[in-house]
Amino acid sequence: MKRSGAAAVVALALGALAGAALAQVKPELLVKQRQSVMTLQGKYFGPLAAMAQGKVPYNADIVKRNAAFLDNLTRMPWDTFDPSTKDMKSNALPAIWEQPDKFKEAASRLENEAQKLYQVSQSGDENAVKAQIGAVGKACGGCHESFRQKQ
Ligand code: HEC
Repeated sequence: MKRSGAAAVVALALGALAGAALAQVKPELLVKQRQSVMTLQGKYFGPLAAMAQGKVPYNADIVKRNAAFLDNLTRMPWDTFDPSTKDMKSNALPAIWEQPDKFKEAASRLENEAQKLYQVSQSGDENAVKAQIGAVGKACGGCHESFRQKQ
């Protein structure tokens, strides 16, 4: 009796999850999700940029950890730039939906540079790491230049 009750609860919970995955995500939530991922990218990239610029001491452990976070974070935001969010209040420019290929290219560029940063961070070659931090920064800035409202 007890056991089948628990099984029913699990089945209900799984049903709810499957429903959530299939349901269309509200545009408000998509905007919140992408801004959250971008905010975290900023959180974990900021200290690396400061190290590359010599503003704070180089710390290989922080570089390794943040590079791993960024390798994952940089794959997350793109599906939230859904056309349903076009008219929402945000800093995303219409160019994202007018030039989708160019936007995808800018997104892939960041993913590739972040993955490379993760790889070189494992080697411990400080100069190579700093150069690659610069390449990631360029990928962030390049996209913001074309696709984000000027700050
Ligand atoms: C392919 C394009 C693209 C790339 C690459 C990109 N961004 Fe963004 N970023 C955007 C857009 C578009 C917005 C505005 C999103 C919005 O307001 O909904 C944004 C917003 C932000 C914000 C503000 C978030 C907020 O709360 O409003 C931060 C911080 C940010 N990006 C950091 C970064 C960092 C750091 C990188 C590189 C590691 C990066 N971005 C790479 C397109 C990009």
